[in-house]
Amino acid sequence: MSGSEKLYEGKAKILLSTGDPEILLTVFKDDATAFNAQKRGSITGKGEINCQISSHLFKLLEAEGIATHFKDCPAPNEMRVRWVKIVPVEVVVRNIAAGSLCKQTGLPTGTILKQPLVEFYYKNDDLGDPLLTRERLLLLELATREQVEELQTLALRVNEILSKFFLECGITLVDFKLEFGTDSEGRLLLADEISPDTCRLWDNADGDPDRRVMDKDRFRRDLGNVEQAYQRVLERVLAHSNKASGAR
Ligand code: TMP
Ligand code: ASP
Repeated sequence: MSGSEKLYEGKAKILLSTGDPEILLTVFKDDATAFNAQKRGSITGKGEINCQISSHLFKLLEAEGIATHFKDCPAPNEMRVRWVKIVPVEVVVRNIAAGSLCKQTGLPTGTILKQPLVEFYYKNDDLGDPLLTRERLLLLELATREQVEELQTLALRVNEILSKFFLECGITLVDFKLEFGTDSEGRLLLADEISPDTCRLWDNADGDPDRRVMDKDRFRRDLGNVEQAYQRVLERVLAHSNKASGAR
């Protein structure tokens, strides 16, 4: 894009400036990494698919009153977003035990949690994104006490909205990661992306524990058919979004 400058290149996205300092352009890449980039690969079409899924989910959340950084998509793999200063905390919400929760606690994969669990991780690649206690989060001044409360409340509300939406798509939202940022007026906005890279999604139409995986665990665990799984998530999200808007 002419007149734009690359501000940052992450593992899955590139951030570019635009003519307007309040607006940035995010370009979603096909590159895939796992385990803090120890495993690298590419998932054909992932950039477009994740951009489209994220865009639909941000629009859904905005319609439900959650403030997000989303503006629009000028191209299938490009998203214009509001400028925010990212809070260096990854907020994870879990409904069902999987991944690091099972590794660190011994809970069997698939255990339904009595209530959603909200966790905070330090967004710091050099340290391997460690799990934080609230006290450590405050000690490091990663967010204020009020912001921590707001992050927790927002994450639980996002979980309610997304769990319901995915259920209507025939998908169980097992867990997911959110990132937030503050805009120039200090407002907390939901940022980054919400996609099969950042969520665990299980197909309700399939009881097989490996076959039902529709998210980045297919890449992390070499389960195969990664592109097809991401594409199926997009198809269901689009089909359901169209049905919902057509019904109004
Ligand atoms: P975990 O079980 O590995 O802690 O992951 C919890 C959720 O967070 C899962 O949906 C995947 C997502 N996630 C990311 O989006 N980025 C990451 O770097 C990690 C480790 C997890
Ligand atoms: N996105 C992270 C990374 O590459 C980890 C993951 O999603 O598993 O490092």
